[in-house]
Amino acid sequence: MGRGKLIVLEGIDGVGKTTQLQRLQAWLPTSGLLRPGQGIYCTYEPGATRLGQYLRRCLLEAKHSTQEPIADRAELLLYAADRAQHVAVDLKPRLQQGEVILCDRYTDSTVAYQGYGRGLDLDLIAQVNAIATAGLTSDLTLWLDLDYDRARARSQHRGNPDRMEQAHRDFHDRVRQGFQALWQANPDRVVRIDASADVDAITIAIQQVVRDRWQVWDQDG
Ligand code: TYD
Repeated sequence: MGRGKLIVLEGIDGVGKTTQLQRLQAWLPTSGLLRPGQGIYCTYEPGATRLGQYLRRCLLEAKHSTQEPIADRAELLLYAADRAQHVAVDLKPRLQQGEVILCDRYTDSTVAYQGYGRGLDLDLIAQVNAIATAGLTSDLTLWLDLDYDRARARSQHRGNPDRMEQAHRDFHDRVRQGFQALWQANPDRVVRIDASADVDAITIAIQQVVRDRWQVWDQDG
């Protein structure tokens, strides 16, 4: 089997990525798009591998911000280490088997959060992403776009905010600007989905984008 596809969902916290990812996973086998026997694998960053689970706790447990703040460059490298492991043990082998991977966050989160959010140099981030991914880019990235207030309202019911969610509104506004810049700079790879629509309308919009993109992939062989 040939190389599979890597489809990524991105956006600020609370935009509804997880719900849409589950719906995409349920819909794809009924869509007629998959080849017979083609597998679907749902995953996420940070934390999908054994090493990643450990790194995720380091990154997101709120106590770290009070005991010893994580330096911005350390944060960048921890997300990168998680990604390097994910790519090596999970993503690359599965893509080589021809699987379709649905991933909650990938390299664009690092550009948006550590680049635009924390203010780290974008060229530095590109280098770190290149090391972590060994050149593996997403085939399609769906950016669920929603303003901070509405996203926050949606994530309020989820209990205590993690270390990243505790950041101030300005931070999340900059992160959203980062996703917007990525979308504008990569029109072939990143598609904006209006996440202010109701949840079913978002699902339909995503299915349409995936269908359209699949046609292009099929044409390209
Ligand atoms: P996630 O598990 O998607 O959290 P949530 O389900 O609350 O959206 O992501 C955890 C946090 O990590 C999220 O605030 C975004 C952040 N993050 C980065 O800052 N950089 C990265 O490279 C990645 C992958 C995530």
